[in-house]
Amino acid sequence: MIDLSTQYLGLTLKNPLVPSSSPLTADADTVRRLEDAGAAAIVLPSLFEESVYYEQKLLDKYVFSQSLGNYEAGSFQPVPEDYNCELDNYLAHLQKLKSSLDIPVIASLNGISTSGWIDFGNELMQAGADALELNVYYVAADPEQAGAEVEARYIELLTTLRNQISIPVTMKLSSQFSSVANMVKKLQSSGADGVVLFNRFYQPDIDLETLRIKPHLELSNANESLLRIRWIALIRSRVELSLAATGGFHQSDDIIKALLAGADVVYLCSVLLEKGPDYCATLLQQLQTWLTEREYESVQQMQGSVSQSCALDPAAYEHSNYVDVIKSYRP
Ligand SMILES: Cc1cc2nc3c(=O)[nH]c(=O)nc-3n(C[C@H](O)[C@H](O)[C@H](O)COP(=O)(O)O)c2cc1C
Repeated sequence: MIDLSTQYLGLTLKNPLVPSSSPLTADADTVRRLEDAGAAAIVLPSLFEESVYYEQKLLDKYVFSQSLGNYEAGSFQPVPEDYNCELDNYLAHLQKLKSSLDIPVIASLNGISTSGWIDFGNELMQAGADALELNVYYVAADPEQAGAEVEARYIELLTTLRNQISIPVTMKLSSQFSSVANMVKKLQSSGADGVVLFNRFYQPDIDLETLRIKPHLELSNANESLLRIRWIALIRSRVELSLAATGGFHQSDDIIKALLAGADVVYLCSVLLEKGPDYCATLLQQLQTWLTEREYESVQQMQGSVSQSCALDPAAYEHSNYVDVIKSYRP
């Protein structure tokens, strides 16, 4: 029997397949199906500080301030003591999953203020999250803001949180840093237990009728996995923290490549939204077959075996790949 286990954020997972943040992990029945299909852990959808505050503001406006504004109307519009806000629902979902699942549950947070990151991070920890994923989705569009300043924001956030949160913390990053490798190293030095490479860069569309910007989300395709595989291969031997690959993992071949490059886990999202949660079992079976056919005894045996440090000429790895690619094109 092949040992599929892997280490991720200090947790021992039974295999490297982890359904990532999406509407799938917001539903308890679907999460149960994911666990039955072999998922080794799950990442909850992000708790968005922005939405929590927006909801609280609306509640204040329509319920609490209304009862203050007109005394008589106050009795018609009772303050709902048992009203469950987004945060309450999130914590209840997390607690329910923790009490019913055997696999680890990773909470995900997207904050906007330092106090929000800390307060909500603490709530998620206390509700039993096995680890905390920081979904820092920041678009640096201000030309006055230098790259170093953007990076400093990430580091400051992590350092502040690290002092407050005792569970493992991982950061989901965009690929758009001048030096991804240096950024990951700095996060490691600031206490990150892992990084998730990479958040997709969502691009809103322009509606040609209304000339308005409209949100636009397409599921990923398998080509996107190559960017993740490449960066993981380049940094695996240069950092010690956990590496999760996310973005474009639709087939077992791509999952295997990410593991060979050095990923500790591979996150699955679009493929499960398209094919259903049970497809996790198919991918797991295909991984197992590949390992058996090549007489591997464990996933750990193959992890990182095609990373930059294992190349015949590691120093030339980065550049020669570029030259080969350019020269390989035949018009
Ligand atoms: C509908 C949908 C909702 C998502 N919600 C979140 C979220 O709340 N937080 C987060 O960090 N990522 C979220 N993601 C991103 C996924 O977790 C994943 O990182 C991304 O889709 C790339 O992986 P994939 O190619 O397997 O889809 C979402 C993706 C989709 C498609």
